[in-house]
Amino acid sequence: MGVLASGSGSNLQALLDRFNLGDDSWARVAIVVGSGPGIGALDRARAAAVPVAIAPPPGPDAPARPERDAAYLLEHLEAAGVELVVLAGYLRLIPQEVVRRYWGRMINIHPALLPSFGGRGLYGRRVHEAVLAAGCRVTGVTIHFVSEEYDRGPIVAQWPVPVFEDDDVSALATRVLRVEHRLLPSVVHAVARGWVSLTRGGRCVWSRPLYGQDRFSMPVDGAIPAPVEPAAR
Ligand code: GAR
Repeated sequence: MGVLASGSGSNLQALLDRFNLGDDSWARVAIVVGSGPGIGALDRARAAAVPVAIAPPPGPDAPARPERDAAYLLEHLEAAGVELVVLAGYLRLIPQEVVRRYWGRMINIHPALLPSFGGRGLYGRRVHEAVLAAGCRVTGVTIHFVSEEYDRGPIVAQWPVPVFEDDDVSALATRVLRVEHRLLPSVVHAVARGWVSLTRGGRCVWSRPLYGQDRFSMPVDGAIPAPVEPAAR
């Protein structure tokens, strides 16, 4: 796989730990493309002896140059023999040509339950700020196939994460990231084994589900739990 990253690379690390440094040989990180120099993800790649590439900087007069970016990405991904592309905190829009070339073979991880709290400008901590501002009681992690719009495309897997009364952005981001680090390697393993495919209608189907119906240990048909009594003073 090729991993595209813009940040500290903790999701990249989860992939490296399982596939490059661990014993899961169904996949391997073959290249990491950073959206700029000096980002943590590149250091993590180098430490694991994975080749890196750094996307050319956006020009002052042309913040996005889709054709040049597409040529650069395709050249590097293809040279590394990449069959699956993983966006692990990559903040640039993927050019149309790259989306088409890797349709159904490129996934993105997002720190909320899409289609809520996604889209342009909603990434990283901003997602959690928006979730808290909306008063949500549940957020989560979504992994989806990449389409030509930010945070759209067929949903592959989701996992819920509770929001607690005294959460701030950091507490919530930490709880969500812990789930990201487990869900992303599991989904990559499943995709590598061919358990996930896309229908003609663009929906994702699993031939071997990642989790059963009892996945959330929440009583779907049962009674709503009684309210928690406040602690005695
Ligand atoms: C992760 O929380 C990832 O879900 C998010 O950026 C963070 C990257 O952290 N991605 C998005 O918001 C995409 N819209 P990392 O660099 O430590 O993996």
